[in-house]
Amino acid sequence: MSNSVIIVRGLIKKYGDFTAIDDIDLDVYRGEVFSILGPNGAGKTTTVEILECIRKATAGEITILGHELSAHNRDIKREIGVLPQEFNAFDLLTVRENIAFFGKMYDRQLDVDELIELVDLKHKRDEYFKNLSGGLKQRVGIAIAMVNDPQIVFLDEPTTGLDPKARREVWEVIRGLQEKGKTVILTTHYMEEAEILSDRLAIMNRGRFIAMGTPDEVIDQYGGGKSCVIRGGKQRAYGALEDLDTELEMCGDDVIVRLADKSTLMRVVYILEEENVPYGEVLLKRPNLEDVFLKLTGRPIEGGELNG
Ligand SMILES: Nc1ncnc2c1ncn2[C@@H]1O[C@H](COP(=O)(O)OP(=O)(O)OP(=O)(O)O)[C@@H](O)[C@H]1O
Ligand SMILES: [Mg+2]
Repeated sequence: MSNSVIIVRGLIKKYGDFTAIDDIDLDVYRGEVFSILGPNGAGKTTTVEILECIRKATAGEITILGHELSAHNRDIKREIGVLPQEFNAFDLLTVRENIAFFGKMYDRQLDVDELIELVDLKHKRDEYFKNLSGGLKQRVGIAIAMVNDPQIVFLDEPTTGLDPKARREVWEVIRGLQEKGKTVILTTHYMEEAEILSDRLAIMNRGRFIAMGTPDEVIDQYGGGKSCVIRGGKQRAYGALEDLDTELEMCGDDVIVRLADKSTLMRVVYILEEENVPYGEVLLKRPNLEDVFLKLTGRPIEGGELNG
């Protein structure tokens, strides 16, 4: 039997003449954290909201937990939890009251105190929602997404706008969901977040998936390989290494050398020493998802709206 809890084939979504989702295929496996990583307007929310049975697809086949979407949406909705991108709860209800309120909408519900424990909000249990920081509000949102003890949890940009500490705390909560055996679909435009949290990910750009796999697979396939950074003595270093049969690039105060294999690094250091280049240090650099996005699209991911 297939281990895929979500199967998507040929998904297309049009808003009028505009194609927001342009023929995507997707398999999400049971128990994994799967991230959709992409800039503003890439189509992340449209994709997850179609899977959440909130928006209608224009074309394509979707199966969730063995149920065909559109024919069995009630069966699907029972088994999924959702943290929407613009999540908000009732300002004048406490953390506990908010979670209990949303729980009442389902036949099956988890114990409220257990949920509060899961998102580590015991100390804020009786605080009004409006008095919580952004990170704590998102954690209430995750608890609400979990009220019906779903098998699949969708978290649409759960950490956008949070400071680094609050973001890490949300990461801990997401790891906790995975430990409970949940399948998590996460959208984000933070490379680091996707790299750290995901078992697998898809990079989305203009309605298409342009890369998919484990973070390591994607980086190995599209990152452009390892390089070393020579810090200090830029002009002299560049001159000394010009004849080396590999890519060389000046970047700020550094020279970056593409390492085709291990022996290139040895050669670089040997030449720098031999030519008495006054360099400060040589650092090894492994590409990350940032480099992958840049290579595939020609621009950084944090570049904002996609209208260029
Ligand atoms: N209801 C709608 N009507 C028309 N166009 C829409 C609608 N919803 C989204 N779009 C457009 O579809 C594209 C994808 O939007 P979507 O919200 O799915 O992107 P996103 O990746 O979630 O972006 P963000 O990171 O800003 O949340 C955008 O160009 C957006 O303007
Ligand atoms: Mg969105």
